[in-house]
Amino acid sequence: MANHRIAWLPGDGIGKDVLDATKIVLDGIGFDAEYVHGDVGWEFWCKEGEPLPKRTIDLLKDTDAAMFGAITSKPKTVADKELDKAVRDKGYVYRSPIVRMRQLFDLYICRRPCYAYPGNPLNYKEGIDFVIFRENTEDLYSGVEYSPVPAEMLKIKGMEKVAPDAAISIKVNTPKGCRRIIEAAFDFAKKEKRKKVTCVHKANVVRATDGLFLEIFHDVASSYPEIQPDEANVDSLCQWLLKRPHDYDVLVAPNLYGDIISDLCAQMTGGLGFGSSGNIGIEYAVFEPTHGSAPKYAGMYKVNPTATILAAKMMLEWLGDVNAAKRVNDAVAAVIKEGKTRTYDMGGNATSLEMAEAIARKC
Ligand code: NAI
Ligand code: MG
Repeated sequence: MANHRIAWLPGDGIGKDVLDATKIVLDGIGFDAEYVHGDVGWEFWCKEGEPLPKRTIDLLKDTDAAMFGAITSKPKTVADKELDKAVRDKGYVYRSPIVRMRQLFDLYICRRPCYAYPGNPLNYKEGIDFVIFRENTEDLYSGVEYSPVPAEMLKIKGMEKVAPDAAISIKVNTPKGCRRIIEAAFDFAKKEKRKKVTCVHKANVVRATDGLFLEIFHDVASSYPEIQPDEANVDSLCQWLLKRPHDYDVLVAPNLYGDIISDLCAQMTGGLGFGSSGNIGIEYAVFEPTHGSAPKYAGMYKVNPTATILAAKMMLEWLGDVNAAKRVNDAVAAVIKEGKTRTYDMGGNATSLEMAEAIARKC
């Protein structure tokens, strides 16, 4: 029997291309796993009215971790039209599979490393090396939304200034939710001997929710005297990140701000072909590239698989195989530095599979 059981969820478009490439690297290092395919994505929305079918959720419950490619999602008007006749008008509502997985398995940490591998022609600046910890289950992504606002709600004190035809999305931050992501960031900083943790917020304006986040940040920070606590308003942070990216070490942010700065930071360290992400809970974790399904490149094996290979590296770490993770990381670094094998985004013409083979050879 294999050492690990991994749910393998290619999803749509280039999701399959990048997972096929990643498998070459995992096989190359001799990772002893059974990979079990799971259905997820647009096809299953159209056919079944559910992009994350129950059988896939059951599969996740029966595996150690998941590798997820990417999915296609479309606005409601298009989504409803593309449903097959057999399932149309049955009241199905599209729900993002990745957001559902995060909530179902309480994957409260979204860890996004931002490292400028030396020699990557796409680096914004050399020497960038920080890690984002984004809260992954609450905040503005809690799904507590009203359009229009129910009349009962308008009777609550303070709500009289809200127009009855307004749409509202409620930002929900709990002490437990804030504390556990902040502790994860500090624990990581301590383990990795990082010097500073920066709290990302807008507590001067969004006083209740971000105020809570910031208050808990300082409380947690007091238990880690060896690590410097730092804080920044999310808007000014964006300009400082561009101006002085080397000043940052570990960043911790509520869900929405974390989502936004993640894409900014991915672009600073090579773009979508390099942005990897771990959705991590206590019992389970799902690893993915941050990019989407890029339909125009689907099946062409043209896109850069490095983001997904680095997601797999994070999975190895999480499963406790630190040595294998280091080998993958060193191999990625060596291939980038050598510069012989590059996908189109890096100015080369290697396929996704050739890039993965080059990495596997160096593992
Ligand atoms: P996208 O990330 O799929 O692609 C945008 C562009 O970025 C591509 O056309 C390509 O030029 C480049 N790109 C993406 N991945 C790359 C890679 N690995 N190597 C090199 N270049 C790469 O974003 P887009 O086009 O806005 O969305 C396409 C679909 O993906 C939509 O249906 C969207 O909803 C979905 N999506 C899914 C995500 C997920 O599964 N986690 C995340 C983001 C978008
Ligand atoms: Mg995003």
